[in-house]
Amino acid sequence: MKRKTILSGMRPTGKLHLGNYVGVLANWIKLQDEYRCFFEVADWHAITTEYEHTEHIAEDSLEVVLDWLAAGIDPEKSVVFIQSDIKEHAELHLLLSMLITVARLERNPTLKEQARDLELGENITYGHLGYPVLQAADILAYKADAVPVGEDQLPHLEITRELARRFNMLYGDVFPEPEPLLTEFARLPGLDAKRMSKSLGNAILISDPPDVIMKRVASAITDPEKIYMGDAGHPDICTIFAYHRRFNAEATGEIKSTCVAGTRGCVNCKKEVGRAIADFLAPMRERRKALEADPESVKRTIERGRERAREVACATMADVRKAMGLGG
Ligand code: TRP
Repeated sequence: MKRKTILSGMRPTGKLHLGNYVGVLANWIKLQDEYRCFFEVADWHAITTEYEHTEHIAEDSLEVVLDWLAAGIDPEKSVVFIQSDIKEHAELHLLLSMLITVARLERNPTLKEQARDLELGENITYGHLGYPVLQAADILAYKADAVPVGEDQLPHLEITRELARRFNMLYGDVFPEPEPLLTEFARLPGLDAKRMSKSLGNAILISDPPDVIMKRVASAITDPEKIYMGDAGHPDICTIFAYHRRFNAEATGEIKSTCVAGTRGCVNCKKEVGRAIADFLAPMRERRKALEADPESVKRTIERGRERAREVACATMADVRKAMGLGG
């Protein structure tokens, strides 16, 4: 039986953090054995908000690819590519943009939230409003059957599905209607218990060396009611316990009971989990170092990704033009 196709992407935010790994990458790495996978760095999507500062996007895209490969995305199994390398996405974006109303795009809750967070008000650009249309082009260019995403992306994916239906209805069956594959892992909290995010300064990076990890973990906020060693803790609200659960799973039973009993101190508890995280990341750090020492091989991986992605996207665009009765 033919393998199903998935496509997913990340905006180039530079070096990735543990939250990106636990929430997204770990899932992608698993999916590689089951699906035909396309993973893209969505650098054009980054420009929807970063159009005044485009100078760091190429470098940030490279950092993202390095972290993907270091974490275990295997370019022999998966197609790893940079969105802006595949101009067909732009053509498909233009054609799809004719099939959706401005009012529909303005109703998108993910976009509304972002506009509110960035205090854009009336200043949202035409390109930014079209963010989910570009995302639909990314997905449909590969005729993806499914898209592994977090919950925040569901409104975008709904637009992709609507566009696929509308296109098929008007011009004949070209696109599958891609299903969301919701990531099964819970979110990993940041060091201050908020969502882990580089811009909030509460992240541990996949590439952080052990001494940095130990320092970062030591700075984490734990249960605010546990001040002295003898105080009983509440592991279920503690960030450090969330890390134990993910990176030191065999020990969580004992950690929980000693924390609740007040016989466990936070300083040592942090050291234990800091070491567990450092050990967990050690092979990734090694792989990243090797990749950094061989930039030519990374370049080749990206070029090969471009070739493989282009082949598929070009074939799709031939189908699209034919269905619409366009030349070219
Ligand atoms: N919008 C996604 C995010 O912010 C990134 C993205 C771009 C994407 N194109 C995609 C995700 C296609 C899935 C499929 O995380």
